[in-house]
Amino acid sequence: MIKKASLRLLQRPAMEETVLPGEIYRHTSLNDDLAEAGNPGVELDGPLLLNIMVKFFHAYVYPGSHEQVLGLDEVSLLFDRFVHRRLGSDVLENCLDLRKQLLSYGFALCMLADLPKSVHIFKAIAEAKPQLDGGPFTGLDIGSGTGLLMLAMDVQSRRNGFEGCSLVGIERNQIVAERTNEVLGRMGVGNVLVSDAKKVDSYGFLEGRKLHFVCNETLPSSGRSLWKEDFIFISKTLFEGLEEQTAHAGFFPESVLVGRTPDEMLTVLDSSAGFQLTDEEYPLRLMKPYAIGLSGEMTRLEDVGKAYEKFIPAGWRSALTRRW
Ligand SMILES: C[S@@+](CC[C@H](N)C(=O)[O-])C[C@H]1O[C@@H](n2cnc3c(N)ncnc32)[C@H](O)[C@@H]1O
Repeated sequence: MIKKASLRLLQRPAMEETVLPGEIYRHTSLNDDLAEAGNPGVELDGPLLLNIMVKFFHAYVYPGSHEQVLGLDEVSLLFDRFVHRRLGSDVLENCLDLRKQLLSYGFALCMLADLPKSVHIFKAIAEAKPQLDGGPFTGLDIGSGTGLLMLAMDVQSRRNGFEGCSLVGIERNQIVAERTNEVLGRMGVGNVLVSDAKKVDSYGFLEGRKLHFVCNETLPSSGRSLWKEDFIFISKTLFEGLEEQTAHAGFFPESVLVGRTPDEMLTVLDSSAGFQLTDEEYPLRLMKPYAIGLSGEMTRLEDVGKAYEKFIPAGWRSALTRRW
């Protein structure tokens, strides 16, 4: 009895506010919002992009919901359940199956749920101008996670007038890759393959097709050694093994500022040198990333998404997870 009562005291109450302010929530489906974002005459502002983020989050957990007009309360309840997936919470009472799902895709959903950063990155990709003409627009998302960046490339292709779009994601986590493949398949956005993006064989499906855009979000977080994640190795594979296919591609990130510390040996890596050093004076394996190029601006990793934080209600800012 006492144990039960004390467990109840640890139980978190439901969040008081909705995950987005009611004034910016659009009573439209994810499909409607994406169609609007694909119109080059429409500004990709914070409110429209935040609507895309929260509705895509819902569609990831409930595949098929991209066609529905969801209520803000419904979307907020799912976020509340997600941020409390590891804890006792009033909103997760009798939701064992949902809790299991949120735990199994949790690490992918954590990236999407960093709403300000996700919006900033989505905007940079969606507004990019491809150098290569001639369709169909061909895009690759390396370490595709939830596939959010594939949605952003789809919007890029529409804003630039491409009629067809062929997108493939590569993800090494099988559970996440299968889920994303299902969600994006239902949305008609592309496919995800379970594969290691460091291996050149993983790109056999390209068969010589030239890429318009490549997303490679496999960097470690700020101040951690570059060698902790596969970004540099994947870039080597892309630029050495797939030189022709990547020759005219746009990239996310556009560039990466690396250094020994935030003030020493700072060097910019970009696609002109395949995201590698041009001299080996100080080895890359001892370097750490500090900033990335986004929409032509070098942005400190901790500042990515800063401009969109003002849209997130105060109670949610600390509850939402971090992308990196
Ligand atoms: C920062 S997350 C990317 C998030 C994703 N862009 C999104 O918006 O949901 C990095 C992802 O890269 C995947 N990954 C890391 N190294 C990889 C590799 N060598 N091959 C394939 N996937 C890899 C991880 O499993 C993880 O899902």
